[in-house]
This record gives sequence, C-alpha cells and structure tokens, in this order.
Amino acid sequence: MLRIAVIAGDGIGPEVTTQAVRVLRQVGELDPALAFEFEELPWGTEHYLAHGAMMPKSALEHLRTFDAIELGAVGDPRVPDDVTLWGLLLPIRQGFEQYVNLRPVRLLQGVESPLRGRGPDEIDMLVLRENTEGEYSGKGDFLFPGDAAREMALQTTIFSRRGVERVVRYAFELGRRLGKSVTSVSKGNAMNFSGVFWDRVFQEVAAEYPDVASRSYLVDAAAMFFVQDPGRYQVVVTSNLFGDILTDLGAGIAGGLGFAASANLNPERRFPSLFEPVHGSAPDIAGRNIANPIAAIWSAALMLEHLGQTAWAASVLQAIERALADGERTPDLGGNRTTDEVGRAVAHRLAAFRPG
Ligand code: NAD
Ligand code: IPM
Ligand code: MN
Repeated sequence: MLRIAVIAGDGIGPEVTTQAVRVLRQVGELDPALAFEFEELPWGTEHYLAHGAMMPKSALEHLRTFDAIELGAVGDPRVPDDVTLWGLLLPIRQGFEQYVNLRPVRLLQGVESPLRGRGPDEIDMLVLRENTEGEYSGKGDFLFPGDAAREMALQTTIFSRRGVERVVRYAFELGRRLGKSVTSVSKGNAMNFSGVFWDRVFQEVAAEYPDVASRSYLVDAAAMFFVQDPGRYQVVVTSNLFGDILTDLGAGIAGGLGFAASANLNPERRFPSLFEPVHGSAPDIAGRNIANPIAAIWSAALMLEHLGQTAWAASVLQAIERALADGERTPDLGGNRTTDEVGRAVAHRLAAFRPG
C-alpha cells in the first residue's frame, strides 16, 4: 500500500491535482500489485484565512508518515505571496531536504514548440535545481524600517559546501547512468563569492567523473542558448533562483507551463519527496475548469518513477501523448477541452499502455 498525501492548495491547484490523482487511481485499478491510499490535506490560503497558518504546526510530522506528496499550487491574491509560500511549500522543500528539484524540459510528441523547426529530439533535458538554499535561504532582514532615508532590505544567499556538492554529485550520477552530458549554470563573474564557490565545487566533482562530459556556462548566455540551441543541453544543474527562472523559460520552449512537471526529491529517502507542476495557482483562470492538467499528471508520473514504478511512469507519458494526438487539449494549447475531460482522456488511454 502506497500512502500519498495530497495538498491541492490554491487557485487551479485542486482542479489539476484531481486529474493527477485520477490517473494514479487508474494505475492502481489496472495493476493488481499496486494500491494507493490518498489523504487530502486541506492546507493553503483558505486554511490561513480561517486559522492564521497555511498548515498546522504538526504538518511536517504528519507528512513524514507518507510515501510521497502530491501538491497542486500555492498562492492567492488575498494574501502576500511571501507569506503563503514561506507558510507551506518552501518549508517542506527545506525541512524534508528535498535538495534536488528535477524538472524535465521535454517537447512531447505532437506538441509544437514556439521555436521554429525544433522537434522532440532537440528539446529534451533534465534540469536539476538546487532546492534548499542558495538565493532561497529565506534569511535576511529589513533594517531601519519606517525610516525612508535609511531603510534597507538584506537577502542572504547561502551556498554551503554540502549543499552545492550533493546536488552536483546527483547530476553527475544521473549523467553517468543515462550517458548524458552535465552542464552547470552559474554566475561566477559578478557573484564573486557564491558563483566562484559553485564553479569550484562543480569542477572538483566533475574531476571525479571523467567519463561524463561536462561544461559550465554563465547564466545569461545559458538562457540565450535555451532559445537558440536547446539541443546542447542534456542534464543541467544550477542554483535555486536560476533554476526557477530557467525552467519557466524551458516550459516556454516545450509548449508552455501546462507541460512543466517537477519532482522535489530527497534522494536518501529519509523524508518523502514532493511532486508538483512547475506552474502556480494561475488566479486568472482558476475555477473555470480550463487549466491544463498535464503538468500535474506528468508530476504524478515522476512520483511513480520515484516509487520504483518506472514502467508505469512511461505508460502515463504515452497516454498523455496519445490523448494530445487525439485532440484532447485545453485552451492554452488551442483546444476546447476542459481540465476534467483531459484528465479523463489520459486515464482512459492508460489501459492501452499497460506495462508488460
Ligand atoms: P502562474 O504559473 O500561476 O501563471 C502564469 C501564467 O500561466 C498565467 O497566465 C496562467 O493562467 C498560465 N498558466 C499557469 N498554469 C497553467 C495551466 N496549468 N494551464 C493553463 N495555463 C496556465 O504564475 P503567476 O501568475 O506568476 O503566479 C500566480 C500565483 O502562483 C502567485 O501567487 C505565485 O506566487 C504562485 N506560484 C506558485 C507556485 C507553486 O505553488 N509551486 C509556482 C509559481 C507561482
Ligand atoms: C516554483 C515556484 C516557487 C519557486 C515559488 C512559488 C516560491 O515559482 O516552484 O517554480 O520559486 O520555487
Ligand atoms: Mn517558478
């Protein structure tokens, strides 16, 4: 029995998460050896407005008992974003040492990239974003508040040896296993401490993997090549903020945020990992049953992979591609299907791709 915690969250979170859970339930239906049990946790902005906190104090203690966590999205125009995100998602990533944020940037079969002439073999990378420190340490201060002449904000960037080394090492292990190159993205010219340190640790670890091709780019040029020549990237490893920005850019070249999936991994499995779409709560389209659920469903596939169900993870991707080919597309892809219809369409097609 696999126990999955479901935090649907805000905005379109519940709409897309419902479809991810539908697909997981269908996998459980089709595979007699697999059983899922879902527990829905009513955490998020409504919880904050009712109780003054995004989630209960004991939340991490409770989440720890699950095999994995499926999350929708966090963020609501009624509450400042730093309050909601530091009240729910970011403490889970840090607290559960989910230091690898794995974000595939992959153009699916039949989806058109806005990059003219680029196909699935040229847009196929795994971006690994450091997920617990860096620019997102959460440490800082407001100095001289209320004194307009002197007030200032401090935002502390923390790069620890342990923090950089473990995500870079993960990248090289992955590169070695898949036979792919590893590209580091940083900013060692202007960031004369953190960037220099990142680059040095990357080089040290790279030296231990002479069989894996490696490269290092400055983030500005790296962003340009995402658009101009995405085929040069295979495994990409970068810091928290750069990874955040580059993966929305990656989503852009791979058909939009509706396709961007992510896995927040604790590789040692001391804590559960968390699976979520890269996109946010999309308040502009929430509640209308038009959000694209594929990013959430794909995230559920990443969960299956993490739970050792690699064949089923591949089946879910095949079912997604078949549904898209059959015209099951939400309005962001120029289609007229609802969120619910696309979720059902993917679940329905799973049987045709049953492993074995
Ligand atoms: P967003 O990702 O929510 O939306 C950006 C644009 O993409 C919007 O036009 C939206 O309609 C569209 N979009 C996003 N997901 C879509 C989908 N599945 N189908 C179709 N269209 C989709 O980013 P934003 O507008 O900058 O942020 C909105 C809120 O979400 C903010 O509160 C922000 O802090 C939060 N946020 C949360 C997460 C998360 O929970 N992981 C991620 C990003 C942003
Ligand atoms: C993401 C989101 C989050 C991040 C925000 C909501 C804090 O943009 O998962 O990409 O920056 O990590
Ligand atoms: Mn983001």
